Amino acid sequence: MRVIIKPDYENVSVWAAQYIANRINKFAPTSDHPFVLGLPTGSTPLGVYRELIKMYQQNKVSFANVITFNMDEYVGLPADHPQSYHYFMFENFFNHIDIKKENIHILNGMAKDIEKECADYEKSILACGGIELFLGGIGEDGHIAFNEPFSSLSSRTRIKTLTSDTIKVNSRFFNNDITQVPTTAMTVGVGTIMDAREVMILANGNKKAKAVYQGIEGAISHKWTITALQNHKHGIIVCDDAAASLLAPETIKYFKDIER
Ligand code: PGA
Repeated sequence: MRVIIKPDYENVSVWAAQYIANRINKFAPTSDHPFVLGLPTGSTPLGVYRELIKMYQQNKVSFANVITFNMDEYVGLPADHPQSYHYFMFENFFNHIDIKKENIHILNGMAKDIEKECADYEKSILACGGIELFLGGIGEDGHIAFNEPFSSLSSRTRIKTLTSDTIKVNSRFFNNDITQVPTTAMTVGVGTIMDAREVMILANGNKKAKAVYQGIEGAISHKWTITALQNHKHGIIVCDDAAASLLAPETIKYFKDIER
């Protein structure tokens, strides 16, 4: 695993955006050979999206031959609901870059047959040749996508019940009213994420320090689904000093030395 420790959120965002743009540019995607990118929502990736938009405007990267798959979507929210992940992605990223609408994949929260929706999502990922790079955030309880504690580490796309803690944390987007937050979501599984050829997880702030500690120094366990990353051949955690603050000093020294 690579661990990149930056002083603050700004530097985390800039590093991650440059990394993603470089990966796309090196891949030199074409319509026959597109770059498949997995994407998250949440507060954490906002800085990366802002930086990628800037790089697109400066002609440093194009998304014309990029296919995206989002991690998750609330069940019961239509695409035009301001708190749906559809809405979030278009507002914060897709409306500002040259991605083709037909290349965007987000689970449909209003699907009548949720099981089929999830199975079809897995099939479309495979049909596109698998995900090249999956970008993600991390929950305070170590969840990746909506894979809450004790999700199977080989799980696939499915519906999950959100924990009360996640509902509480996410209620900040719903006028702090927990009754407005959907209680279930469709999410890619831990196994779906781990099938990507590379996985990059972002974390910033003290609130994420425990999850980062477990992800890097904890034993692999379904209790902290982030720990599955330890088994990935190309896993990267990009975090700021605050999120790294519970790591042992020698762990921080090791990663700062090797990534100098
Ligand atoms: P956040 O969410 O980026 O809003 O902190 C991350 C997550 O819960 O995965």
